[in-house]
Amino acid sequence: MGGLTTLAPVIGAAVPLGADSVPIRRPREPISPEVGAAAIVAAMTDPLPAISLPRELLPADGRFGCGPSKVRPEAMNALNAVSTTYMGTSHRQAMVRFTVSQLRNGLTEMLALPDGYEIMLGNGGSTAFWDIATFGLIDQRSQHLSFGEFSSKFAGAAKAAPHLADPEVIESPPGTHPEAHASAGIDTYALTHNETSTGVAMAPTRPEGAHEDAIVVVDATSAAGGLRFDPSQVDVYYFAPQKCLASDGGLWLAAVSPRAIERIERIGASDRWIPASLDLVTALDNSRKDQTYNTPALATIFLAVQQVEWVNNNGGLEWAASRCDRSADTMYSWAEASPFATPFVADAADRSHVVATIDLDDAIDANVVSQVLRDNGIVDTESYRKLGRNQLRMAMFPAIDPSDVEALTACIDHVVTALG
Ligand SMILES: Cc1ncc(COP(=O)(O)O)c(C=O)c1O
Repeated sequence: MGGLTTLAPVIGAAVPLGADSVPIRRPREPISPEVGAAAIVAAMTDPLPAISLPRELLPADGRFGCGPSKVRPEAMNALNAVSTTYMGTSHRQAMVRFTVSQLRNGLTEMLALPDGYEIMLGNGGSTAFWDIATFGLIDQRSQHLSFGEFSSKFAGAAKAAPHLADPEVIESPPGTHPEAHASAGIDTYALTHNETSTGVAMAPTRPEGAHEDAIVVVDATSAAGGLRFDPSQVDVYYFAPQKCLASDGGLWLAAVSPRAIERIERIGASDRWIPASLDLVTALDNSRKDQTYNTPALATIFLAVQQVEWVNNNGGLEWAASRCDRSADTMYSWAEASPFATPFVADAADRSHVVATIDLDDAIDANVVSQVLRDNGIVDTESYRKLGRNQLRMAMFPAIDPSDVEALTACIDHVVTALG
């Protein structure tokens, strides 16, 4: 494990900045530009960290957030290298369009898409894609598996759409997942590969007996590029690049099957009113030209390419998923053996290998643990706020080194012991 020289806690006497300023503590030693801002914000808002983690225990990189998540420094360096040749240039010209084609081709390879599947993209992230789906994918009535914040939101969007019939919503308590089943009149089955709010993963599969024209639409926002799946079971596998793709937010990406393309074209040709920015026919036309309907975030596209090529050059999705398996094994084995930590997801088969949710004993305040970790440069281990549990939630995306996950568990042990 590499020593962490850049994430030193900020310790020192408070010094006034001026009449209107918030007191800030003077760092005892230089802070690197990468973490300087975070450390200063922490110093401005927090009491002095009572617990200072030994350097030899710290992970090499302290980012464990579930999105935006760790961007590999190598990818940032590559972005810096194109700061005047790619950044700030037209998304309609060859340079950017070539990068979009690299992303589309790289994803096709990484996800091992069958012939006829295409990669589409557009602006607005996965949240926009839910609205897009209500306009351009759901014909009349959808079925939704609802087992956490994100899966319930898509169900809510379908319910709110005035041109659709009320969806069939199958729920299960947080920490579990329901099963889809074929239902008469359902033309769209909405599944979630990884429920980021609860740390539950499920294999996306076509419900047995589903009508042959029905499409299976899978929210893979936090799964794509980190979890294995069988693409032939799904028609739309949509995601955003700020998670396993170790890039930034704002974009949606979707692998679409020939059956989904047929659906998009059929609804597009109907008299349904579809706002232009949410129109999948327009998005498909633009994607096929390696463009987007309106201006995308160029850095997001570039960083996603860096990650997809990194994964592909190292052995593809199987390699990335194996890395996540190693991290998950470390995390859950640690929690199971711990006297104060327990995996929130009771059934080991449902435990996500990219997002871990770990309950802490009531005697230990998880918020305090997260705060002490944050003060030591280990950030974003807080639980999903709306779940309301005494819990830590930590990403184990492919960019996160499995040895850093091991270091994280040692740091949690240290903090809990020090808190007494
Ligand atoms: C499973 C899942 N779906 C959808 C979203 C929303 O994605 P975005 O923020 O890109 O709109 C998230 C974000 O965390 C997510 O985890």
